[in-house]
Amino acid sequence: MALLSSPPSPSPSLPSPPLRLRHLRGLPPRPISAASASADADADADADADADHRLVVSGGGRLAGHVGVSGSKNAALAVLAGALCCSSGAAALRGVPDLSDTRTMAAVLRSLGARVEERGGGEVVVDAGDVTSVEPDSEAIGRIRAGFFVLGPLVARFGEAEVALPGGCRIGARPIDLYLRGLAALGAVIQLRHGKVRVEAANGKGLVGGQFHLDYPSVGATETLMTAASLADGVTILSNVAREPEVADLAKFLVTCGAQIEGAGTSTLVINGKKRLHGAEFTIIPDRIEAGTLMVAAAITRSCISLSPVIPGHLTSIMDKLSAAGCKIIQKGRHILEVGVLLGSKLIFLVLKIRTLRDFVALQVSALSSPNNGDLQGFYLKTLPYPGFPTDLQPQFMALLTTCNGLSVVEESVFENRMHHVKELQKLGARIRLSGSSAFIQGKRHRSSALSGCPVEAADLRGGAALVLAGMAAEGVTEISGVSHIDRGYENFEAKLLSLGANIERKVEHQQQLMTGIA
Ligand code: EPZ
Repeated sequence: MALLSSPPSPSPSLPSPPLRLRHLRGLPPRPISAASASADADADADADADADHRLVVSGGGRLAGHVGVSGSKNAALAVLAGALCCSSGAAALRGVPDLSDTRTMAAVLRSLGARVEERGGGEVVVDAGDVTSVEPDSEAIGRIRAGFFVLGPLVARFGEAEVALPGGCRIGARPIDLYLRGLAALGAVIQLRHGKVRVEAANGKGLVGGQFHLDYPSVGATETLMTAASLADGVTILSNVAREPEVADLAKFLVTCGAQIEGAGTSTLVINGKKRLHGAEFTIIPDRIEAGTLMVAAAITRSCISLSPVIPGHLTSIMDKLSAAGCKIIQKGRHILEVGVLLGSKLIFLVLKIRTLRDFVALQVSALSSPNNGDLQGFYLKTLPYPGFPTDLQPQFMALLTTCNGLSVVEESVFENRMHHVKELQKLGARIRLSGSSAFIQGKRHRSSALSGCPVEAADLRGGAALVLAGMAAEGVTEISGVSHIDRGYENFEAKLLSLGANIERKVEHQQQLMTGIA
């Protein structure tokens, strides 16, 4: 046990990984250079992270134009962890958004001995052929929950792993019981000690196919058990699994690497384990949550914008709600982007041909042509596992509903503590009453009088995005602090909004500047 007590950290003075693993695989020591490179990148990020970032939004303007949607954060995190399954050949990924979360996941992989090359432009190459440890850096795991997903591929590939317990976060307790019970069903022995989970294959070799029913269709547990089962000996049946597009994208990646998985996107997965998987080329799906956030930006400012690439099937519940409110959403097959142009009161369409990859298309979202001259109607929404309405868009839609007509109700059923944005929206003048897991929103008749700007604080990623959107609809200036939360999940957020005509800027104050202020 002592061999695994000190997890390797990505710092240049990297202690040699536990002998046990290297002895088993007879691998040469891991070159230090790769580690120091990542440490520098992290150091830069950390240094900047010390600065106080604020977003300053002047509201009341309209948006217009086209905006690009980045690759999915949550699919990228799952696929990066899944790349640990590949014992030969590199996984060459495209569409990986450049976010603090994906950089942290890269640090987690490097702390295990994997080589991760972030080439820019969304290209990341992961070579996990040279993994030398089964204990990822706890500090990095502590920064992102998805770091815990490496547990599955590690125990499946090496028969053991020791991973720090992922903390809860502001939106809920976020237990891991389904991960652990699922691994136990695949023949693992679990120990919890010193804030860590130690998992070992009971047979001392590897996991064995089995059956497990998830009490709740957890995204992370499904992804972790699916990667584990891909390398288990025999067939695994996982039932009541998550059906999120990010889960299906991970399954698609693993199949490209040689796995045998059936039922991705349904509530039952049948996985025939393989001895080993190999690297492959793969493109991450577009981020449906970022797309939904940008669609709300159009609605809340009563504007008309277009965005691509998107996969419309991933946005059904979102488009339903926006259409119910009175927005017009246009998507016409592949390769065709329809652009709405307002000429006086007439809406004229121009047809343009564009090249797209896979089945990505473009969407036009307009709140211009909604009835009642731009007034949108309130509605009821309840967050649910996919294909229900995504909890990751609940705060943004709540911000929108504060500007819509009538009474609306938002019910959060996935996380027990995801209403931190309410008190900040109330500061902006929103009339919201909380009762248990529901929020009752009394919208206002005319957009211009719904909200007025003031300083507010982001407490989590999606709540932060909601405050930016509310600031774009509010009269006056809204100053948002806690921006590091937003940077975790939105690539070039303010630059994209700026390109659509929003009046937004980032202010950065460094500690010493702040200190002088105090003095
Ligand atoms: C994923 O989190 C996403 N994160 C979350 O996005 C998203 O909100 C969530 O799925 C739901 O869609 C990533 O993919 C990295 P869950 P995850 O396990 O996997 C309970 C964002 O903003 N549960 O599906 O952690 C749990 O408490 C983030 O991008 C158990 O009870 O979510 C929760 O109430 C935030 N036991 C519910 O399931 C378990 O073992 C849903 O959690 C696991 C989960």
